[in-house]
Amino acid sequence: MKIVLKKGKMENAPKGFARIRITEEPKGTKRLVKEKGIETLELGSGKYADMNRRKFILLCRTIVGAAKKNKNKKIAVPFDDTVKLFKNLKGIAPEELAQLAVENFEMANFDFNIFKTKPKEGFDVIEEISVYGKSSLRIEKAVKKGQEIGRAVNACRLLANTPGGDMTPTLLAKAAKAAMKGLSVKVTVLGAKEMKKLGMGAILGVAKGSTEKPTFTVLEYKRGKGRPIVLAGKGVTFDSGGLNLKSSSGMYEMHMDMSGAAAVIHAVALAARLKLKQHVIGLIPAVENMPGNSAYRPGDVLKSLSGKTIEVLDTDAEGRLILADALTYAKRFKPSVVLDVATLTGAAISALGFHASALLTRDDALAEQISRAGEASGDYVWRLPLWDEYEDRVKGEFADIKNVPGGSTSRQGGAIDGGMFLWQFAKELDCPWAHLDIAPRMTSAPGDELAKGAAGTPVRLLVRFIEHYAV
Ligand code: BES
Ligand code: MN
Ligand code: ZN
Repeated sequence: MKIVLKKGKMENAPKGFARIRITEEPKGTKRLVKEKGIETLELGSGKYADMNRRKFILLCRTIVGAAKKNKNKKIAVPFDDTVKLFKNLKGIAPEELAQLAVENFEMANFDFNIFKTKPKEGFDVIEEISVYGKSSLRIEKAVKKGQEIGRAVNACRLLANTPGGDMTPTLLAKAAKAAMKGLSVKVTVLGAKEMKKLGMGAILGVAKGSTEKPTFTVLEYKRGKGRPIVLAGKGVTFDSGGLNLKSSSGMYEMHMDMSGAAAVIHAVALAARLKLKQHVIGLIPAVENMPGNSAYRPGDVLKSLSGKTIEVLDTDAEGRLILADALTYAKRFKPSVVLDVATLTGAAISALGFHASALLTRDDALAEQISRAGEASGDYVWRLPLWDEYEDRVKGEFADIKNVPGGSTSRQGGAIDGGMFLWQFAKELDCPWAHLDIAPRMTSAPGDELAKGAAGTPVRLLVRFIEHYAV
């Protein structure tokens, strides 16, 4: 989408541009006014005085969504005039608002339609937005940055939405390579053989039930000094549950179980594209979790890369297994901080619903930083505890640890158990660590004003985090 900053009033826009007017009518109100061949789309934002950052994000999406629905290709938006109405946004710098607006214009302009036959009149998509207001070098830069961020989120959504048959571990590694094209990011892909040599028994164990071979992709971007930020993303390209097979409804959408991987891939690519002065490593353990003849079984014991043995009580708790080896692998980079991102548990959805990812960490300062990045970016997170009290639940009966507690309370507090399991490996790291369970935000929710399917979380949070992180 082309986004052009224009000086002066929106009313000066050429005829082919539909004009957007924000009214004080209730949110959701839409009216189309046609005068002398000029279309004006009136959209209600609710009382101007009640505007806030979160609502602004949604309003920007509504603008694009409504225009798309109205079959407009080009729109004119009165930026300065609108923002002036929202007194509550005064605390946010104009360039920050411009960046946020553009990010969300881009996100709202995305549809997953690569498998659809193109209609004669083309898909509903906005081709150009003219933004009217005072311009400056800073605003120009903010628009460019917002556009890069929005595009990265959409690239993440495209990747995550791709069906399991078209996005195997091998293809995911390939997609990671393709995403880094032209960027100064080093990509290394470990295959099953190399993983065996290293002793990544947890990843290899999960992979056994599939004819698709696992991959482990390492992304390295370095434009800053010192110990790196390591991001690890769960790359389960399809989660059938394994021998503990999921139900039909539970298996639905499980091609998106590599959403964490997709987000890490595109956050690293974005950091490189924005030339952030940081040192970032991305780790992508990728497997397909299937119940084939040679699948790992409930009761099997896996030897992880760390040396710790893991009793598999449930083959459907596979994400934590592959991340365990990734967390151990992270150690070799002597990281300053490690974040993992995963669609780890349905329990996180039970706890939080669909509007926040779960954040689990033992480090209060890190929790604060991540929460702030979440609030500012629109990738909202909410913290759950990782207290010692929960630790007994992952202690093993016949091995060092078990992947789920088992027994009648096995599913209670499941998001915490997932985090506590990962902590058993993260505690060996010499640095702060946090786990983001993005299952609640895997897909867009009603009210998000986004296309159905992958939501592209938490690319925006990660890039803000990377940008502001200081050791
Ligand atoms: N990928 C799922 C979690 C999930 C569910 C993500 C729904 C997004 C939407 C994960 O691998 C899984 O199966 N978790 C189990 C854990 C259980 C066996 C302890 C779950 O949530 O049921
Ligand atoms: Mn699973
Ligand atoms: Zn899974």
